[in-house]
Amino acid sequence: MNFELKTLSLVAASKTSADTLIVLVDDKFQPGKDPVSKLIEAALAAKDLTHKAGKTLAAYRVAGISAPRICLVAVGDGHVAQIKTGLSAALPTLKSTGIARLAICWAGPTAAACVQAAVLAVSEGTYVYGGTQSKPALRKLNQVTLGLPSLNAGHQSSFATAVAMVQGIELAKEWANRPANHATPTMLGKAAQNLAQSPHISCEVLGPREVAKLGMGSFMAVAQGSAEPLRFIVLKYNGAAKSEAPVVLVGKGITFDTGGISIKPAPEMDEMKYDMGGGASVLGVFKSLSLLKPHLNVVGLIPACENMPDGTAIKPGDVVTSMSGQTIEILNTDAEGRLILCDALTYAERFKPRAVVDIATLTGACVIALGAVRSGMFASQDDLAEALMHAGDAAMDLCWRMPLDDDYALSLKSHFADVANVGGRPAGAITAAKFLHRFAKKYPWAHLDIAGTAWRGGAAKGATGRPVGLLLHYLLSQQVSAKAVEQRTSPKRKPPARKPAAKVA
Ligand code: BES
Ligand code: MN
Ligand code: ZN
Repeated sequence: MNFELKTLSLVAASKTSADTLIVLVDDKFQPGKDPVSKLIEAALAAKDLTHKAGKTLAAYRVAGISAPRICLVAVGDGHVAQIKTGLSAALPTLKSTGIARLAICWAGPTAAACVQAAVLAVSEGTYVYGGTQSKPALRKLNQVTLGLPSLNAGHQSSFATAVAMVQGIELAKEWANRPANHATPTMLGKAAQNLAQSPHISCEVLGPREVAKLGMGSFMAVAQGSAEPLRFIVLKYNGAAKSEAPVVLVGKGITFDTGGISIKPAPEMDEMKYDMGGGASVLGVFKSLSLLKPHLNVVGLIPACENMPDGTAIKPGDVVTSMSGQTIEILNTDAEGRLILCDALTYAERFKPRAVVDIATLTGACVIALGAVRSGMFASQDDLAEALMHAGDAAMDLCWRMPLDDDYALSLKSHFADVANVGGRPAGAITAAKFLHRFAKKYPWAHLDIAGTAWRGGAAKGATGRPVGLLLHYLLSQQVSAKAVEQRTSPKRKPPARKPAAKVA
């Protein structure tokens, strides 16, 4: 799907060659003398269109308007949330039609963030999964023109970010939606290697032998019940000087979670194919980075394996030794995400990162706490928490900070190892985060629990591509401060001494 942004008055919009013209009308609408204005004026006067966001009025072959279909969409006060509401009301009808060229234009001036909201809404409203049907449904829409009465640099940059972002989101959706037999750890490794065709990205995929050599006993323990060999994916995006400390993203890559010997109930177990949603979001972010080429360094780590019950599987009570040297008593084999992430967090130390963010469909408890609206966010430092919170708002991919008090770790005490892999039912999302916290002491760290936000159940079942948007905005915000560090430490400017790059903006 091709996106284009251009200046388009309503006069020009009436002559567009698109199959369908969507006109966004806010409550400050000022009519001109063109046919589109006249249509809006008449519709408002007759109350066939009101200003309530999401109200739509479609018409066919209107005199003076070239596009055969025109749809007026009310967007209330015209702010981002209303753009989203308006377009999500108008777009579903397009999904089943043969429309190939769509133009969306604003009837009046609009903010830069609204351009992003529109690109996101179009992607969201027209995405079709096409991975595994014999006659895959195709997205017929291939050209989307966004037209604004006037354009500035803010609009342009919001547009560029959004277009790269939706490509990342759609890649993440595609992989998360794939059934587990079409998204094995090996296949995820190949998908990562594919991304490394882009000049700024490199990729290394470790298998069981290399992982054993690293001493990742906890990760290996989860994988040992599966016939599919594990993969440890290391992606690197290099957009700044080698000396710039990277941000490390760690994505949970459980390609199927049966629960292991602590097996899950049968209903809806199919949804556990999405348990690599964190890993898929890392792939998605790298896709976006390859398009935007920002000035910063990013490492992506994806421990990938299946969690299966088997004669060779781990048993409740087993004690394993993690890469950090800490021993873990596995009281519940269904708390496997933290077992693979802890070794990846230890591996992350070697990059001397400025921050590490892990992303995981980690706990059902987080779904209970925050539902599908906000991802759970935990952070060891306030400035990192603030940056992530802000990024989530900017990307319309919300999160909410949760606590990390040490008292929450009390329930993880074990009689037979340094730590147990589960607490009790109370505060399950937080005790999971506290488990990870033990392995993330050497750098600023954050954890995003996306169990409730990475996919939707029910009729609209499928992956959401979250939190690619949040992560991308966070990384782009780091780019500015990375540049500042560069300037501060540039030899021309004076002291070559550099601060340890641990601070985040
Ligand atoms: N992948 C699940 C978490 C999950 C549950 C994601 C529901 C999405 C929807 C995770 O591996 C898991 O099974 N967690 C357990 C932990 C418990 C055993 C402490 C859970 O949340 O039930
Ligand atoms: Mn599990
Ligand atoms: Zn899981």
